[in-house]
Amino acid sequence: MTRWLVTGADGMLGTDLVAALTARGELVTGMDRAGLDVTDAAAVTEAMARCEPDVVVNCAAWTAVDDAETSEEQALAVNADGAANLAASCAKLGARLVQVSTDYVFAGDAGRPYAENDVPAPRTAYGRTKLAGERAVLDRLPGSGYVVRTAWLYGAHGPNFVRTMIKLEDQRPTVDVVDDQHGQPTWTMDVGRQIIALIHSTAAPGIYHATSSGQTTWFGLAREIFGLLGADPGRVRPIPSSALSRPAPRPAYSVLGHDAWAGTREPRVPPIGEWRTALHCALGELIAAQRPDSRPAG
Ligand SMILES: NC(=O)c1ccc[n+]([C@@H]2O[C@H](COP(=O)([O-])OP(=O)(O)OC[C@H]3O[C@@H](n4cnc5c(N)ncnc54)[C@H](OP(=O)(O)O)[C@@H]3O)[C@@H](O)[C@H]2O)c1
Repeated sequence: MTRWLVTGADGMLGTDLVAALTARGELVTGMDRAGLDVTDAAAVTEAMARCEPDVVVNCAAWTAVDDAETSEEQALAVNADGAANLAASCAKLGARLVQVSTDYVFAGDAGRPYAENDVPAPRTAYGRTKLAGERAVLDRLPGSGYVVRTAWLYGAHGPNFVRTMIKLEDQRPTVDVVDDQHGQPTWTMDVGRQIIALIHSTAAPGIYHATSSGQTTWFGLAREIFGLLGADPGRVRPIPSSALSRPAPRPAYSVLGHDAWAGTREPRVPPIGEWRTALHCALGELIAAQRPDSRPAG
């Protein structure tokens, strides 16, 4: 049986990945930041020797996109040095490593979905540090390193856009949401299951895109959420990104292509399905997390 080690196990994705592994009866050790700080090379070596994992999934990350603009070195320590520490240990022990990464490695100005092998051109400090993490893994583990890029994540176990909309629908008559950024809203549980399927297939190491199929804007997503909550989607009003000023620029186009999944075999792993379908499945859990005292909308 495969032994898994998940770092950043208390985060939004890490929590759902550990849950998905546990539900499948896999042998999994989840370590939060207090249990394993990935920037501590000696602690990584010690934890790896103790757990002897076959597969490590690195969900630990500096994810504060705006703060990274003024703290790039600290972000780099987690997102790049942390990944390098894990990769070095995996190389010694013969373990496979899945490094979770992001659409922010791209410039975000394309007119068609980004392919796995498109040239990265990050425009933010966060994107640069995540790209350095990808390279740390792929360089050290050419035969056993996987980079799984995702984007626009939501889940029950962390702050995210879907939970914010569930809260605001309850509190405000209208909400203004940007309508000029395009992406693929993606459920953390889908990413967790996709990583598990990837490792259980005979997929070649390399880069995979784990985002939902289809695309929308934040405005389109907010309208869908309001509709599912039984509220009037007309209460969501479109605004341009220029109306919000943020330290890190947000990509206008974050749509990722899914061609690499076609190369998976035994069994073939299809890409994650349509974003709307996933949102319908996930919403009850997110409402319960956001409004613990209320019943989910029918
Ligand atoms: N959220 C998104 O929309 C999104 C989009 C694209 C890609 N991703 C990627 O998906 C992955 C998971 O993101 P997420 O949304 O689950 O983020 P998250 O909720 O912020 O989880 C990250 C976890 O990493 C932990 N961590 C931070 N520094 C650490 C360290 N030095 N050692 C060990 N653990 C550390 C954090 O602990 P503390 O809370 O204690 O700091 C947190 O539990 C990341 O690689 C991220 O870049 C996320």
